[in-house]
This record gives sequence, structure tokens and C-alpha cells, in this order.
Amino acid sequence: MNRVIAPFGRRAATVSARDEHGSYTVIRCHDRGGPTPRAGQFYMLTAAERWGGGAGERPFLPRAFSVLRADAGELQFLIEDVGPGTRRLCELHPDDGLLLVGPLGNGFAPPRGGRAPVLVGGGVGIAPLAIWQDELAGEATALLGFRDERHAAGAGLLKRASVATDDGSVGHHGLVTELLEDELDARAEDVEVYACGPPPMLEAVRELSSDHKVPVQLALESGMACGFGACFGCVVPTSDGYVRLCVDGPVLDAAELADASSVGSLAGAELRGVDRN
Ligand code: FES
Repeated sequence: MNRVIAPFGRRAATVSARDEHGSYTVIRCHDRGGPTPRAGQFYMLTAAERWGGGAGERPFLPRAFSVLRADAGELQFLIEDVGPGTRRLCELHPDDGLLLVGPLGNGFAPPRGGRAPVLVGGGVGIAPLAIWQDELAGEATALLGFRDERHAAGAGLLKRASVATDDGSVGHHGLVTELLEDELDARAEDVEVYACGPPPMLEAVRELSSDHKVPVQLALESGMACGFGACFGCVVPTSDGYVRLCVDGPVLDAAELADASSVGSLAGAELRGVDRN
């Protein structure tokens, strides 16, 4: 298996910079001595201070984030403030401490049979596609969907992106899967799709790609408590039985899934409802 293995234990890193991109914050940190991650792998993140003790003691679990970029020992993570954990991470500033475990999981595999990669991202799910586009030497077409103009500022993190917004404020007025359908109608036999985003988007990508007989790799999301296979909070059903997304994914071949919209809806639901975001 082509996976970069995380060293044992949690490492202390230092935030080196933060950038704002509309609704998103990019946190950069120096992970000296940590291995270089592959595109699609993820880290479990915890702020070194003021983690826990809020309403209901939240946040108390670390949060899983795909790596956005990795360059010369500096990691980047794309974060949207949607809950107590992400809010605390968005508050980090240079010289603050960040505790991390990673890189974890399996990343993207190269396109099969010389196919051209097409990247499809929704919202904060664009993160693993940015580092994958870097690894592909910027050759991949990117189709990105966002809620509105403020969120669409995240599109600047990828090259040559075609954008769709729900409210029509930027790019195509509609769903990013409508852009994908045009792409597949034009050249289905030549492409492989890589997608990350909300479950309904992933299910639409899976269905479209299946209809067009196009291979697709999906980077899936799930509430994760441990990140390394111990808690079984991230299991999802596949054609080969249940798998743990943190060790068997988070990238899965869509052909293994009957329905991507149901991912993350089984075991771990209570955990996700309590301390996920
Ligand atoms: Fe614990 Fe996957 S997050 S087993």
C-alpha cells in the first residue's frame, strides 16, 4: 500500500502563518521532522491551549483535516469555522502551538491508463484537491462548487478552476456536478475523476461517473475520534463489507460504494453529533 505512515505519538508544531480566503482560514505550521504527506492523507489537529472547557466541555476530540499543501516541512490546513473545534483552530495565530498526529490514511492513486485527472470539489472539500493538483504538476482541470461569493474565494487556492455557486454570484449558477456533466459528456473515455465535498455532492459525482463509466476516487469525510483505527467511529459500508475510513480511506474507489450520500451515517453517529465540528 502506497501510504506514508505517521510516527507514533502526537507532535507539537508551531503555527507559522495564517491567511484568510473569504469564509476560510488557512493555518500553516512547521512540522519539523514529520514525514511528507501524500495528497488525500489527513491529520488529527488540536490547539495546544484552550482545547476543551467550553459549552459541554467542547471541543474535546481532535479534528481530522486533509492536508491542503505541504512544502519543505510546512503543512497547510484549510479550516472553516463551523463549530467549537474549527472555531478554536481558526483563532490560531503565528507562534501558537498546534498538536498533530499524521499523516494518516490512504491518499489518491494516479489516474489509470493515461486518463486526464478532473478534480471536483465542494466547499472546504477542495483541500485535498489542491495538494493533488500540485502533485500532478498543475495539469488537472478543477471544477469547484461553493455556496456564495464569500466561500468562492477558496477557489484561488487551486489553479485554473471553473467555479459554480449556489446563488450565482460567481461563475456558473448551479451545482458543480452540472459542470462535471458537461465535462463527462465531452470526454468521458479520457478522464478519471477525483472528488471531495459534502455527501450529496459525492453521491451525485458517483452516479454521474457510473453512468458515464468513468473511474472516480472519492475522498470521504466522517467524524473521527482517533484517526488510526482504534475507535471504529468512522466505519462505512462497502462492497467488501465495513471499512474504517481513517485506515482504509479516506480515499475510496467509488465502485466500492453503493451510495456515497450514506457515508458516515452509521456507527459513530452519536460521537459525530456530540463533538464533530
Ligand atoms: Fe477511530 Fe477511524 S477514527 S477507527
